[in-house]
Amino acid sequence: MTNRHCVQVIAITGGKGGTGKSTLAINLSVALAMSGQRVVLLDGNLELPCIDTLLNIRPQRTLADLLEGKCSLKELLHPGPRGINLILGDPFSSAALNLQTAHHAGIINSFNEIQRDLDVLIVDTASGANSSVLNFTRAAHEVVMVLCNEPASILNTYALIRTLNNHYNIRRFRVISNRTYSPMEGLDAFNKLLALTANSAEVSLMYVGNLPEDLAVRYASHKRRAAYDFSPRSKFSRELEAIACKVSKWPLPTTPRGHIEFFTDSLIMAPQHHGTKTLR
Ligand SMILES: Nc1ncnc2c1ncn2[C@@H]1O[C@H](COP(=O)(O)OP(=O)(O)OP(=O)(O)O)[C@@H](O)[C@H]1O
Ligand SMILES: [Mg+2]
Repeated sequence: MTNRHCVQVIAITGGKGGTGKSTLAINLSVALAMSGQRVVLLDGNLELPCIDTLLNIRPQRTLADLLEGKCSLKELLHPGPRGINLILGDPFSSAALNLQTAHHAGIINSFNEIQRDLDVLIVDTASGANSSVLNFTRAAHEVVMVLCNEPASILNTYALIRTLNNHYNIRRFRVISNRTYSPMEGLDAFNKLLALTANSAEVSLMYVGNLPEDLAVRYASHKRRAAYDFSPRSKFSRELEAIACKVSKWPLPTTPRGHIEFFTDSLIMAPQHHGTKTLR
């Protein structure tokens, strides 16, 4: 079959809150879009979505409408900065609270509808190890852990890695150190995480790079813009660009892994399937 189109799916996650997952998800999406890729960014923080707030966007439709059967996934796509498309949540709706794995699977399966419309899907998750974090993360092809050089961040990230490995057999994790004061500090945080996983032969950690603590990120967030767009010459944006360059070279998925997964239609090379599956 010649019309196969593989989408790169990257989950941005981490054990601890506030390490910069959403900041990375937004800026990486913008950087990849500016390099010519068609990018969709999903706010996978179902309970407390915030990408709408971070980018000052009021979407007409949100994941709550999808869950209530009021629209298809395609109808949720909302234009964001630099040509990215956003799928956003509604922080004031209760429709996305306390969902089960079947609901997450329904959301994930509904992405088959837009498979031909994008090259990269970035999934920003909540922190910790609740079921939405675990389901969205295991459904992605690449898992990026965002950590800071703080004991709680490193330990909680290790706990999340263990859970994903023990329960879902996820073995490969990419790591980005954020809010560092030097490249050495970023590597230091990664090495501490590596030491914790030393006894888990199955787990493989790959260091992607570090993002510096930068006031440009703070200024951009006050303007509710992506730093990569608002301050392209900042230290943060330069390092982000280097990371985006590496990300664009990561291999694409080729075969299904036998569990909940984004864009399975393209992986099993089945005839095109369109339409949102029943969610409730
Ligand atoms: N490299 C950086 N330099 C300066 N500030 C940063 C940097 N990265 C993130 N921040 C700031 O840290 C705060 C938390 O970032 P962000 O919301 O991206 O974290 P998060 O991991 O998504 O949090 P949550 O777990 O609550 O979803 C924000 O105010 C953001 O502007
Ligand atoms: Mg966040």
